[in-house]
Amino acid sequence: MKLQKSFILTLTTATMLSTSAMADTPVYLDRTKPIEQRVEDALSRMTLEEKVNLCHAQAKFSSYGVPRLGIPEIWMSDGPHGVRAEVNWNDWGYANWKNDSVTAFPALTALAATWNPELSAVYGKNVGEEARYREKDVLLGPGVNIYRTPLNGRNFEYMGEDPYLAGEMVVPYIVELQKNGVAACVKHFALNNQEKWRGNINVNLSDRALYEIYLPAFKRAVQDGKAWSIMGAYNKIWNEHCCHNQRLLNDILRGEWGFDGVVITDWGGAHDTKQAALNGLDIEMGSFTNGLTLEADFGFNDYYLADPYLEMIKRSEVPESTVNDKARNILRLIFRTAMNADKPFGSLASPEHYAAAKMIGDESIVLLKNTGILPLDPAKYKNILVVGENAVRKLNIGGGSSELKVKDMFSPLDAIKKVYGDGVKYAEGYRTGPSLYEQEVIIPAEILDSLSNQAVEMARGMDAVIYIGGLNKNGFQDCESSDRREYNLPWNQDKLIERLAEANPNIVIANISGNAYAMPWLDKVPAVLQSWYLGTMIGPSMVDVISGKINPSGKLPFSFPKRIEDVGAHSFGEYSYPGIEGTTAGNAASDLKGADVSAGKDPQQEYLEDIFVGYRWHDTKKIPALFPFGQGLSYTTFSYGKATASAKTMSADGNLTVTVPVTNTGSLEGKETVQLYIQDEKSSLPRPLKELKGFKKVNIKPGETTQVSFTITPDDLKFFDDRQHAWVAEPGKFKALIGTSSADIKTEVQFTLK
Ligand code: BGC
Repeated sequence: MKLQKSFILTLTTATMLSTSAMADTPVYLDRTKPIEQRVEDALSRMTLEEKVNLCHAQAKFSSYGVPRLGIPEIWMSDGPHGVRAEVNWNDWGYANWKNDSVTAFPALTALAATWNPELSAVYGKNVGEEARYREKDVLLGPGVNIYRTPLNGRNFEYMGEDPYLAGEMVVPYIVELQKNGVAACVKHFALNNQEKWRGNINVNLSDRALYEIYLPAFKRAVQDGKAWSIMGAYNKIWNEHCCHNQRLLNDILRGEWGFDGVVITDWGGAHDTKQAALNGLDIEMGSFTNGLTLEADFGFNDYYLADPYLEMIKRSEVPESTVNDKARNILRLIFRTAMNADKPFGSLASPEHYAAAKMIGDESIVLLKNTGILPLDPAKYKNILVVGENAVRKLNIGGGSSELKVKDMFSPLDAIKKVYGDGVKYAEGYRTGPSLYEQEVIIPAEILDSLSNQAVEMARGMDAVIYIGGLNKNGFQDCESSDRREYNLPWNQDKLIERLAEANPNIVIANISGNAYAMPWLDKVPAVLQSWYLGTMIGPSMVDVISGKINPSGKLPFSFPKRIEDVGAHSFGEYSYPGIEGTTAGNAASDLKGADVSAGKDPQQEYLEDIFVGYRWHDTKKIPALFPFGQGLSYTTFSYGKATASAKTMSADGNLTVTVPVTNTGSLEGKETVQLYIQDEKSSLPRPLKELKGFKKVNIKPGETTQVSFTITPDDLKFFDDRQHAWVAEPGKFKALIGTSSADIKTEVQFTLK
C-alpha cells in the first residue's frame, strides 16, 4: 500500500514536471510555430562557435548539429539513382554495413528518355522512401547538367541536352522526394559539363548560353521543385570556383531566383575561406580530397569554414552576419528534414520499388531502328546467342559516386533465358576488366581477338543474335572523374558487331550506355535498341521490350551525331573542348580570346558554340544527326493530322492553344510522345531554328485518334537578350512545329505575337 502511494506521487510529480516543461517549450522545438520563427529562435540561442560548426562536415557524409540544443546532425548520401552504401567515417572505404543494400533505379538519362513526368514523380517518391528508410536527410541528386558533348563521362547521371526537357523532368522528382522529409541536392551548379579537369577548369560563356541553356533546369528545380539544397560544381566560372561564386550563388541563385535552401559544396569544392564566407556557400564537405579516392590528414577543424572562418570573424575580416545567414539556411534545412516530425518512415528494396524501377526502365528504352525483326517472337526464335559483357556485368558498380550496393540485380542474360528458354547461349565477345576510376584496364589484343572469334563462330546457325554491349562504368567510359577518349565504341566492338552481322543477319543490337556513340555498322544490322543503366530491373525491362511484351516508347534525350566533329562543342578546337591547360609554350594561346593560359594557370575554356547545343546545332548548321534528339520508334505506327491554333494572333499577356490529332495506325497499343517546338521567324539576335517548348506522352489504342493540345504562352517565345539582361519576346511571326522528333516535324501552324 505504502509503495503504491509513493508510486502515485512520483507519477504526479512527473506529470506536473512535463506539463510545466511543455509550457516552457522553446519556440524552435514548437512544431506549431512557423519555421522562420523557429529558425530565429534557435539562432538566438546559439554561440558563434556553434554557428560556425554548422557550416562544415563532421564526417564524409555528415555535417554537425547543435548537440547542446538537441538540434540534430545532417546525414547525406549519394544519389541520384539510389541510396549509396555507407562509407567509413572519414575515408572512402565502404563500411560493410549489413543493412544498406538498396534498389538501383534507372540512371537519370533513362528517366529523361521516358519523356514522362509522371514517372519522374514515381521515381522521386520511391528513391525518397529508400533514403528515408536509410535515415538520410539529404539525397545528393538529381543532376541536371546539360549534355554538351558525348565525351562527358558523367552524362549518364543527367537528363540530356535540352533545358526544357530536363526542367520538366526534374520538378516532379524533387517534389515527391522531399515529401519524405529528405532534401534534394540538385547538382552540379553549374557548368560541370565535362569531367576532364573538373576541379579547376575555368569556363567562359556568354550570358545567353548561361541563361538559355545551362541554368533553366536548375531554376525550375529551385522555383518549381522548391529544392531544399543545391550542390556547387567543382569547376570555375569567370575565374571563381562555383562553390563560392559571387555571381552564381549570391546574384543569380539567391538574388534572382529567391533560393532559401542550403548551398553545399561538391566534395572538396571549397578553396578559400573568405570567398566561402562571403559568396553564398553554406556547408563545406569533403575538403582536401578529390571527391572519390584521395584522402588527406586534415581534421574537420581545418576546413575553410571551420576554425579559419571563426578566426576571420573574430578578427572582423568578414562580418558575423555571414555566419548568421548560413546558420539560418542550415537550420531551415534541419527543420525541413532531420527535425521534421511529420516525415514518414520509408521502406527499402520493396516490391513496389522494384515495380517502379521496372516501369521507368520499360518506358525509357529507345527503338532506333527496326526493319521488322523486332519484336523477337519467343515462339519463333528459340536458339539465341546473346553476345556482350553488358548482358552479365554488374553495372551498378563503378561510374563514381553514384555507384550502388544492390539487394538484387536481374541481368539481361538471365531475363532472356527466362523468356526464350534453354536454347539461349552466351558468348562474352569482348572483355573490359574491373571498374577503376581514372584508370584503364588494357585487355591484350589476343584475348579480345579470341573472344570475338568464339562469338562469331557461335553466332552462325543460331535463330538470332542479341548483342548487349555499349559502354560501361569503367574509367574513361561513362564514369566520373574522366571523359571518354573516343566517340566509337571501345574494346573493338565496332569490328565485332560487323563480324557478327556477317555471320548472322538476324542480329539485334541492344546497347547500354549513358552517352551517344558512333554506329559505323548501322546499315548492316536490322534492329537497334538503345538501353541505359537501368539498375535492378535492367534484365526484365530489356527482355520485355525485345520480346514485345512492352511496346517501346522511349525517345532520345540527346542527339546521336554521326561523328564527334558534328557536335557544336567540338567544332572550335580544343579551346572549346576540352579547354587549354596552362603552359609555357606559346601553343594556340595567341588565338584565344582573352584566355589566360600562362604556365601554372588553370585550364581555360570557352563554350564557342554558344546557345547552339545538341539539336540546336544540328538544325541550325544543317548537319543532320545519325539519330536526332526526340527520336524513338514503336512497334506500332502513328500518323499526325493537321495542327490547328485557337487564334492567329497572341497578345503579350495572352496565350493560344495548338491542337493536333494523332492516330495509332498500327495494330498494337502504344505510347507516342508528341513534341512541340517553337520557331521564331525573325529576331534581333540569332536564335536556334527551333526549340522544344512542350511535349505530351499519350497512350493510343490501334485505330484510335487522340487530340493532343498545347498551350503556348508569350514566355515560350522568349529568348534571353543579354543586351538588356532580360527575357524578351519580340512581336512578329512564329511557328508551332509539332513532330515525333526534333528532325521529323509532322505539322506546323503559324501565328503572330502582337
Ligand atoms: C561528386 C558528387 C558527389 C560527391 C559525394 C563528388 O565526387 O562530384 O556528385 O555527390 O562526390 O560522393
